[in-house]
Amino acid sequence: MNNNIKSFTCRYRKLKKSKQIIFNKYFNLFNINYENKYLNFSDIFDNKLSIIIDIGFGIDNNIINFAMKNVKYNFIGIEVYLPGIINCLQKIIENKIKNLKLIYYDAFFVLKNMIPDYSIKLIQFYFPDPWPKKKHKKRRLLKQDFLKIIFLKLKNNGLLYIITDCQDYKNNIILNIKNINNNNKFMILESNQYNNIYKNLNFYLKKTKFLNKAQIKKKKIYYIEYKKIIISK
Ligand SMILES: C[S@@+](CC[C@H](N)C(=O)[O-])C[C@H]1O[C@@H](n2cnc3c(N)ncnc32)[C@H](O)[C@@H]1O
Repeated sequence: MNNNIKSFTCRYRKLKKSKQIIFNKYFNLFNINYENKYLNFSDIFDNKLSIIIDIGFGIDNNIINFAMKNVKYNFIGIEVYLPGIINCLQKIIENKIKNLKLIYYDAFFVLKNMIPDYSIKLIQFYFPDPWPKKKHKKRRLLKQDFLKIIFLKLKNNGLLYIITDCQDYKNNIILNIKNINNNNKFMILESNQYNNIYKNLNFYLKKTKFLNKAQIKKKKIYYIEYKKIIISK
């Protein structure tokens, strides 16, 4: 499996003192360390609620509102951008959030090595880095190898949800999913074949920097939804 090309670059230099204090105080309380070992969600959350994973939740922390409004789910946020992790930690403390844990590591390896197969209710990406230039497209996270892992990790009826304003990325994701949809253990259905993912969730889409930018530039926003169905034989 090839994922030597990273989907991200390190975009921050030095943390401000106030952020460093938050990091030192709270990181270990809410962070799950990267390990090459499957997680036991019941131990982590002390309950058996379904798990939602948000990949690349960024600095604006939409995941906070989502977790607060959906306490019947447990949330895991995976992010490689430390200021985003620290902002999120601060809001977890301020809002006394109990159903959210963070993993500060590359989501490709987290999903592959830490998430048990057939275990997740929803995996979502809001505005994954589009890497729009031709020479950078190889950095896109939602390539076939990662999509295969994502669908393996979803439960029966588990959902993949992506929001992007990059038409080329959207087309590319749809094509990639079409190409991997040949597994004889499960099939992947497109969104128009079932109801909207957020029907049973209290959905909250905050106006993040990326949503705002897309709206200012009057870009079309694409909502991509897929569902995994296990085939019983
Ligand atoms: C364009 S930003 C979108 C942030 C946020 N979802 C939003 O809508 O405001 C993409 C985020 O994905 C994160 N990211 C990129 N590759 C990642 C990876 N392999 N694992 C975890 N996070 C990643 C980046 O650090 C960045 O914060």
